[in-house]
Amino acid sequence: MLKRGEKIMFIFAGIVVIAAIGRGYQQFTDLDPAPPKHFYAFDELGIVGHQVYRKMGCNSCHRAMGTGEVGVAPVLDGVGTRRDLEWLRTYLTDPGTLVPGTAHYGELGPDFRLLGSEQREQLAAFLSGLRANPNSPNYPVKVKREPE
Ligand code: HEC
Repeated sequence: MLKRGEKIMFIFAGIVVIAAIGRGYQQFTDLDPAPPKHFYAFDELGIVGHQVYRKMGCNSCHRAMGTGEVGVAPVLDGVGTRRDLEWLRTYLTDPGTLVPGTAHYGELGPDFRLLGSEQREQLAAFLSGLRANPNSPNYPVKVKREPE
């Protein structure tokens, strides 16, 4: 016969095992993956723009699509939800009109006033395709563009 203390231990161990099995079963059947935080909506121009973005080394300050630096400059994932195409075009033409004291007068980042109009359109198309879902930390407080 088991002693009283042993019985209690036995019952307790049983409860722990049943709880663990229950939890495991719950996790196993809970197959809904977390919804994605970001999505990408590039047209052909945007895909060319991605190459321009990579070649110009924007990644050395910015983060987008899983690569690049954080801490130096804003994360660009979600910039196409935070800003509309007009804003991006204006920023890539003369950023100082939107951000006084901008780093993009060549102080730190590349001087956008020197971009060719073709490059500017390609970059704008790329940036506008970097969208955020509401569960993203980059989802803006003020949405300029509704999710599709
Ligand atoms: C040396 C660092 C650096 C590099 C390289 C750089 N940036 Fe920036 N960028 C910044 C900083 C700092 C800001 C913050 C806003 C400002 O100063 O205008 C910024 C802001 C921006 C913004 C505005 C984001 C927002 O929503 O406010 C865009 C768009 C942008 N950069 C695009 C680019 C692109 C495209 C390239 C490559 C051609 C690039 N950046 C390269 C430093 C950099």
